[in-house]
Amino acid sequence: MRTYLVTGGAGFIGSNYIHYMFKKYDNEIRIINVDVLTYAGNLENLKDVENRDNYTFIRADICDRDAINKIFEENDIDRVVHFAAESHVDRSIVNPEVFVQTNVLGTATMLNAAKKAWELPDGTFKEGKKFLHVSTDEVYGSLDDDPNAFFYETTPYSPHSPYSASKASSDMLVKAYMDTYKFPANITNCSNNYGPYQFPEKLIPLIINNALAGKDLPVYGDGKNVRDWLYVEDHAKAIDMVQEKGRLFETYNVGGHNEKQNIEIVKTIIDTLKEVLDDSDPRKAHLSYDLIKYVSDRKGHDRRYAIAPDKIKAEIGWEPETMFAEGIKKTIKWYFDNMDWMQNVTSGDYEKYYEKMYSNK
Ligand code: NAD
Ligand code: TYD
Repeated sequence: MRTYLVTGGAGFIGSNYIHYMFKKYDNEIRIINVDVLTYAGNLENLKDVENRDNYTFIRADICDRDAINKIFEENDIDRVVHFAAESHVDRSIVNPEVFVQTNVLGTATMLNAAKKAWELPDGTFKEGKKFLHVSTDEVYGSLDDDPNAFFYETTPYSPHSPYSASKASSDMLVKAYMDTYKFPANITNCSNNYGPYQFPEKLIPLIINNALAGKDLPVYGDGKNVRDWLYVEDHAKAIDMVQEKGRLFETYNVGGHNEKQNIEIVKTIIDTLKEVLDDSDPRKAHLSYDLIKYVSDRKGHDRRYAIAPDKIKAEIGWEPETMFAEGIKKTIKWYFDNMDWMQNVTSGDYEKYYEKMYSNK
């Protein structure tokens, strides 16, 4: 049975990936989820899988060399899927150091531990072992408004925020391991994800949550910055396909051809919520574009991100399956049906879940 070590599996994309993998492979795989549970880690995201015999959660920091080495020593890990990171640009502007710590040094720890466990005496690596580093299109910097300009795998790195600089540094470390040691890895650079279990500091869940509560909807700058939105399940599928069908040592860009201005996103959410809510629902009364509040721009705000997913399509056959109009409806419905999840996150109650479920195991 193939064993996966997933880092950051209690976060947004990691938890969706774990759900996707168990749906696809069921009992054919084993997953060990290593997560230190920062504010962004939420074990409630995984309550549907936590009692499976082929799932294990380990609370550990990816910067903790001894803890990570121990996991490799005690388990025959076949695949690493490395999500764990500090992921929010606004936080990186306020507090950059933790981004360097986790994203750069944590990735170095993961690479070292995997290399140590997988390397043979002759410097080659055990058959079939693979490391996938999950990264972002933000490493490529910013595009202007020319609709024919895209990020390709060959686009030079030009990160602007402390977040994207730390992710770029971690990508460089993975590239260095591949070049120097022929370490068996891939990098994926993905565009903005959306879907269930996303922490409501990111645009889409924040707007859904505020709109339902009748609060202001903050739009940075002129609201015309563009992001290329990818439904998270499509991303999970891409990661699995890259690991199983991709060429080792390659980078694959993963994107949705779903470019939207931020202001379009905010208006779509308001419109969709109005469609979904019953007329008798009191939350419907205050739903209007009047909630939109233009606020000061983010420092160093990248104008436009857009991925050309040509390589992953041609080599692996992956394409985004969920177009934005459908994905945003599914996402809104999910938050709507899971208001308890949102309330636990906004009240901070989710942070007690670990103690309740795991402390006496
Ligand atoms: P997230 O912030 O929701 O989750 C991050 C997870 O990592 C959390 O569970 C957190 O507890 C864990 N973590 C943080 N520091 C850790 C540490 N030191 N040790 C162990 N665990 C730690 O992030 P996300 O949105 O799910 O992003 C996952 C990955 O995908 C990141 O590497 C991010 O850079 C990348 N990415 C995200 C997006 C996006 O739109 N969200 C797009 C492209 C790439
Ligand atoms: P975000 O979800 O933080 O993702 P990223 O910065 O990684 O792209 O932001 C998406 C876009 O939405 C980005 O252009 C910043 C903008 N934004 C707002 O206008 N208002 C907000 O409250 C937030 C959180 C983001």
